[in-house]
Parts: sequence; structure tokens; C-alpha cells
Amino acid sequence: MKDANYNSDFFVIKALEDGVQVMGLTRGTDTKFHHAEKLDKGEVMIAQFTEHTSAVKVRGKAEIQTSNGEINAD
Ligand code: TRP
Repeated sequence: MKDANYNSDFFVIKALEDGVQVMGLTRGTDTKFHHAEKLDKGEVMIAQFTEHTSAVKVRGKAEIQTSNGEINAD
């Protein structure tokens, strides 16, 4: 796992309204939410995919920047 490159890139989530939720989902056979972070307008979260986190769900108005491009969540 140490040599895997799944966590090399950071992604950035910027909240465009209060109460944006960033939820981390577990890696592995069981896909469960393991973390919920609330961002208020203007707040930024910088994160990586890790040994524990393989997917992220964003609820609310937010700008998301990744190495694959940018997208807006509503
Ligand atoms: N403890 C989590 C982990 O190491 C923290 C985390 C990393 C996280 N990336 C995330 C939580 C993305 C939510 C969204 O995997």
C-alpha cells in the first residue's frame, strides 16, 4: 500500500454557500461514509484520496478542483 500512488494528488473543494457537506467514503469491499465535514461559504478543504478514503461525496454549492479538471456541485 505504501507504494500505491492513489493518494499523490490533492483535490480542492471550495464552498460557495454555507453548510456544504464533504463526505468521505471508505476504500475496500464495504463502501460506507466514514467522515462528514461541513464547510461554510468561502471555506476551502484540501484533501487526498488515501488508504481509507476512495470516494468523496459533495452536497451543496461548491467548486471542486482535481487533477482531472474542475466541476461545480449544486
Ligand atoms: N482520515 C481520513 C483518511 O485518511 C481523512 C480524509 C482524507 C478524508 N481524505 C478525505 C475525509 C476526504 C473526507 C474526505 O482517509
